[in-house]
Amino acid sequence: MADKKIIAVVGSTGSQGSGLVSAILADPNGGFAARAITRDPSKDKAKAMAAKGAEVVKADIDDVESLKKAFAGAHGVFAVTNFWEHFSGEKEKNQAKNIADAAKAAGVKHVVWSTLEDTRKLMKADDTRMPMLQKVYRVPHFDAKAEANAYFAGLPTTYFMVSFYWDNLYLFGLAPKQDDKGVYSWTFPMGSAKLAGIAKDDIGKAAYGIFKAGQQYIGKTVAIAGEHLSFDEMSEKLSKGLGISPVKYNAVDANLFRSFGFPGADEYGNMFQMYRDFEKEVNAVRSVEETRKLCGGSLQSFDQWLSSNKAAVKAATEPAPATK
Ligand SMILES: NC(=O)c1ccc[n+]([C@@H]2O[C@H](COP(=O)([O-])OP(=O)(O)OC[C@H]3O[C@@H](n4cnc5c(N)ncnc54)[C@H](OP(=O)(O)O)[C@@H]3O)[C@@H](O)[C@H]2O)c1
Repeated sequence: MADKKIIAVVGSTGSQGSGLVSAILADPNGGFAARAITRDPSKDKAKAMAAKGAEVVKADIDDVESLKKAFAGAHGVFAVTNFWEHFSGEKEKNQAKNIADAAKAAGVKHVVWSTLEDTRKLMKADDTRMPMLQKVYRVPHFDAKAEANAYFAGLPTTYFMVSFYWDNLYLFGLAPKQDDKGVYSWTFPMGSAKLAGIAKDDIGKAAYGIFKAGQQYIGKTVAIAGEHLSFDEMSEKLSKGLGISPVKYNAVDANLFRSFGFPGADEYGNMFQMYRDFEKEVNAVRSVEETRKLCGGSLQSFDQWLSSNKAAVKAATEPAPATK
C-alpha cells in the first residue's frame, strides 16, 4: 500500500465511484490503491469495500476541511457530485468548489472530475424551445457541473463526461412498465434520436484507465459511452432480452413530458429534449471505441448489460402492487 499511488474516490458508494474502487481493487499489481470516501463508513457498501482492501475514509463534500484531510497524501482524486440528492445547481457548484479547493490544498497530481456539457451553449439565450430552470439553467445538472469546471482551473484535471446509465432503468424506475392489459410501454421526448448510454460499472473502469494513462489526459475532456441506441432499438432489445411481449415506445412532445408533474419532470424533460435536438453534438464526442480502449477492451453493449441485469430490469417493469 505504502508504495502505491492512492486514488481518493468521492462518491465511492455510488454508481460512478464504486466502479472505480472495484477496478482499482481488481488490479492489485496496477500500482494504485483505493481510498473510498463516504459520509458513513458504517454502511454496508463501505464495509464491503473495506473487506476487499479499500481504505474507507469519512468526509462530506459540504465540508471542505473534511475533504482536505481525506485527500491528504493522495496521488489522485475522482470526484462526482450528486445533483439528485438536492436538485440544486448552486449547491452542486459549492460542492465542486470544495472538492477543487481541497484537491489544491492536498497537492494531488491528477483529478478526474465528473462533469457534463453546458447545454446553454447549444441554444441561443432567447431560444424558447425549453424553459430556463432555477432561473439560469437549461438542464441544471449539466450546466452547473459545466460551470464548476472553472474551479478546477490550475489543477491537473481530466474533465470526464459520462452518458445515460442503462442502470437507470431499475435504479431510477425508468424501465418500461407493464399495464393491466399486459402491454409494456415507456414514454420519452426523444423522437427517433439515439441516446448515448453505458453500463454503470464501465464508468469506473474508464476512469481507472484515465488514471493509469495519467499525463496524456490531463487538461483534456474525455466523454464515454457503451453504445448509442434509439428508444425503439432499446425497446426491441428489451423485449427479446427479457422474453416479454413487444415494448411500445411513446415518443411524446417535450412540453407534454415536462407537464407530467413527477419530481424532476421539467429537468428530465429538458434533458431528453436536449439529447434529441442536439443528438449529433452530444453523441459525436462520446466515442464507443475510445471508451472500449479506456476500459481495457472490455466494454459492455446494451445486450451484455441486460443479460447481467435481467432480474433487476424485469422486476422494474412489473406494475406496482395494488394498495389495499
Ligand atoms: N444517472 C445517469 O444516467 C447520469 C448520467 C450522467 C451524469 N450523472 C450524474 O451522476 C451524479 C450522481 O452520481 P452517481 O450516480 O454515482 O450517484 P449515486 O449512485 O446516487 O451515489 C451518490 C454518491 O455520492 C456520495 N455523496 C453524495 N453527497 C455527498 C456528500 N455530501 N458528501 C460525500 N459524499 C456524498 C454518496 O456517498 P455516501 O452516501 O456514501 O456519503 C454516494 O457515494 C449526478 O450528479 C448526475 O447528474 C448521472
